[in-house]
Amino acid sequence: MKAIFYDRYGPPEVLKLIEMEKLIPKDNQVLVKIHASSVNYGNLVLLKGEPYLARLAFGLLKPKYTIPGGDVAGRIEAVGKDVKQFQVGDDVFGDLSGCGWGGFAEYVAVPENVLALKPACISFEEAAAVPMAAVTALQALRDKGQIKSGQKVLINGASGGVGTFAVQIAKSFGAEVTGVCSTRNSDILRSIGADHVIDYTKEDFTQKTQSFDLILAVNGYHPISAYKRALNPHGRYVMVGGGGAQLTEAIIQGPYISLTGNKKMGNMLQRANQNDLVFIKELLEAGKVKPVIDRSYKLSDVPEALRYFEEGHAQGKIVITM
Ligand SMILES: NC(=O)c1ccc[n+]([C@@H]2O[C@H](COP(=O)([O-])OP(=O)(O)OC[C@H]3O[C@@H](n4cnc5c(N)ncnc54)[C@H](OP(=O)(O)O)[C@@H]3O)[C@@H](O)[C@H]2O)c1
Repeated sequence: MKAIFYDRYGPPEVLKLIEMEKLIPKDNQVLVKIHASSVNYGNLVLLKGEPYLARLAFGLLKPKYTIPGGDVAGRIEAVGKDVKQFQVGDDVFGDLSGCGWGGFAEYVAVPENVLALKPACISFEEAAAVPMAAVTALQALRDKGQIKSGQKVLINGASGGVGTFAVQIAKSFGAEVTGVCSTRNSDILRSIGADHVIDYTKEDFTQKTQSFDLILAVNGYHPISAYKRALNPHGRYVMVGGGGAQLTEAIIQGPYISLTGNKKMGNMLQRANQNDLVFIKELLEAGKVKPVIDRSYKLSDVPEALRYFEEGHAQGKIVITM
């Protein structure tokens, strides 16, 4: 089988396409013939070993997981004897970031509890775009944000992988959604259901008079005091991404603000979760969520895909096809 392999932290150039022995699933594993994978920020953390704290999990001096790739969609080709949920021939998708990665390859052997059946109504490429980004958006809105129908929700950085799912998932909860993006992405946000679009190159939403019940900070930066100003009296702010300063403020100032007032502010960390993936699967089947795909790369072009992702201007998700 072909796989993308690396044995030292570094830029995308350290990744090599190799030929290796096809994997054999253990008793509790399924062997998935991967049709597509996709790129997430976690791939860059794993590749570079940065921030350095991540090396506690990914290997101190060199990478512990030598085949990167978190999201996969594919067909089950073999099952271990203890596997109960799936059978050979099932089409599945899932996030492998909690079970050793390995998605940038033609095959992977994984425990069954990281997978869900792929909705029949979407392609493998679309399914591969979903797991990590959509589950992040769901956990941020529902669990940390406690989203409710009728609320005014703002998503800053709405046009990337996580943001395009967040807009659609927030709509599925019955929220009135405002997406913040640049001029070239305004039509994309409207096409996926955003009620209002704010162009961050022309307006700063934190300086306007309107306020929100829930703000998701996915990309872009504003001081936490500006986000606080833009919240309604009992509003919530969930920091998902957007860089180090935004994260530091959410971790350090967020708990203090939450303890001393009615507004709740803090960050969230996504965890792969089978039930949440099934929840998203049902939204996909109901047509309430549709993956937005910017472009696709071949397996051999994973380094180029990561370089493009690193520029930070993807319009939706970047997919890898086998
Ligand atoms: N907390 C967690 O567990 C977790 C999990 C997954 C991801 N994340 C984080 O979430 C963030 C987003 O991930 P992603 O995969 O969605 O990234 P992405 O796909 O690379 O996001 C790119 C998008 O961000 C937009 N953008 C860039 N600068 C912006 C700004 N100043 N204001 C508004 N939008 C801006 C870009 O639009 P333009 O080109 O128009 O600027 C582009 O559409 C990352 O920081 C990642 O680390 C966190």
